[in-house]
Amino acid sequence: MSLALSIAIGTTVVLGGSSALSAAAATPTTVLGYDIDSASSLTVVVNKTRPLTPVTYGPAEFGAVNLAKPAADAFARMRHGMSKAGDGDLYISSGYRGYYSQRAIYRRDVAKLGLLRGQRLAAKPGYSEHQTGLAADLAAYGQGCVVKVCFSTTKASKWLVANAWRYGFILRYPQGQTKVTGYQFEPWHYRFVGKTLSIQMHKAKATVLETFLGLPPAPDYVP
Ligand code: DAL
Ligand code: ZN
Repeated sequence: MSLALSIAIGTTVVLGGSSALSAAAATPTTVLGYDIDSASSLTVVVNKTRPLTPVTYGPAEFGAVNLAKPAADAFARMRHGMSKAGDGDLYISSGYRGYYSQRAIYRRDVAKLGLLRGQRLAAKPGYSEHQTGLAADLAAYGQGCVVKVCFSTTKASKWLVANAWRYGFILRYPQGQTKVTGYQFEPWHYRFVGKTLSIQMHKAKATVLETFLGLPPAPDYVP
């Protein structure tokens, strides 16, 4: 059975995805046992076809940095790991963003870059992983390229690509996957999904969350 056919709602196996959306509010959809619907789930999938419910959602509990508690705790461990390896001192350039700050960023980027490029860089409010408190734009002190594509050339980024999975983080918008993710290559944007999923993806050599879970590509907003 293909992954797409094994999407289950509660105990019912659903063929295809359309009825999954209407039932989502009542019973969260699980894929491979992961709750991809509930905004508070560590494995919630947020993209241009999957807004948060409610659209103004924000995490209930924060940690020592500006992320939801489990992501903040994992970030601290990851920062320590990179530092021990001698590859940099990691910090969060942008972590949790509320609905209205996301709206300001979206409007700013679309005004600056135009609709096509702006929408490949910034999510509409209610459609951003940053609103879950589980996404972090990462940078390292003294290494530059903060929230720039050239971040991928830094020691910190190379360490993250090789090791973030050990801490429960995945690179969410890899190079060459815009047609699936809806976003340009964002080497700085990491998403905490928990270690069970990040380790499973690593073992499967999976690079894109939607693809791994058998979800449809999300290149654009549903009109
Ligand atoms: N930069 C990511 C896609 C966001 O705005 O959530
Ligand atoms: Zn980001």
